[in-house]
Amino acid sequence: MQIIDGKQIAGEIKLEIANEVKEIIAKGHRAPCLAAILVGNDPASETYVNSKEKDCHEVGFTSKIYRFGEQITENELIEKIREINADDSIDGLIVQLPLPKHISENNVLLTIDYKKDVDGFHPQNVGRMMLGLPTYVSATPDGIVELLARYNIETSGKNCVVIGRSNIVGRPVANLLSQRTAPGDCTVTICHSRTKNLKEICANADIIIAALGVAEFLKADMVKDGAVVIDVGITRIKTESGKYKLVGDVKFDEVAPKCSYITPVPRGVGPMTRISLLKNTLKAAKKEIYQ
Ligand code: GUN
Repeated sequence: MQIIDGKQIAGEIKLEIANEVKEIIAKGHRAPCLAAILVGNDPASETYVNSKEKDCHEVGFTSKIYRFGEQITENELIEKIREINADDSIDGLIVQLPLPKHISENNVLLTIDYKKDVDGFHPQNVGRMMLGLPTYVSATPDGIVELLARYNIETSGKNCVVIGRSNIVGRPVANLLSQRTAPGDCTVTICHSRTKNLKEICANADIIIAALGVAEFLKADMVKDGAVVIDVGITRIKTESGKYKLVGDVKFDEVAPKCSYITPVPRGVGPMTRISLLKNTLKAAKKEIYQ
């Protein structure tokens, strides 16, 4: 059994990106620039945005964070996005989610210029991903595919079961792994809360991607020997001793011994999602996808 070390791979990719940024600057161009909009005081969102800013600086990008109070109106927010869309000194823009209830996430995400949509949430980019065209792939699906690639895990012809059908993880990763790509060429099954015989379906899988958001859901009797298990979940639970710990959607201690490869939580998929944002911002700065 081999542990897939997302933290290590993320560190390696950061160095690759930092080297590329140095080359860009040496050629006389400005550093790539990511803008992030944060609305309200949600502590988790605050932490995410701060981490993204730190990542940017570590690879030599510049960043701009626009903070707004909870009371900002949808129109005001949309106006700010339009301003950033038109600002040639900014390559990528993300609006940290969730937004307050009075603001339509859909309206906001549709306002972001798809050429700057480094989260890969705009229908233009989601559509291009579905068609296998160059695009900004969203963070978690991209992180998963990158891990499979970096560990040279064979996916062609494999049975892959994705548990969870969210728009930002389950369905896009299922789509990517079904494409004629490497990693890809999988026979993919998407399972969800209405799936019958989930245990049997999982037990037949060569690759399982657990992305349902239920702590320690995937147990040893749902996994066949030699399977590859990718754990997208992250939940803080209280242990018997009263301390808190982070767990994934996989009951790691009992599943890991059966696997050929498995991602831990933390240090698995999580660090890779932050890398995808950097990759996309670099692509935006280089105008690799759109002119
Ligand atoms: N909130 C949780 N994950 C994400 C993400 O990947 N992007 C944005 N913008 N907000 C999030």
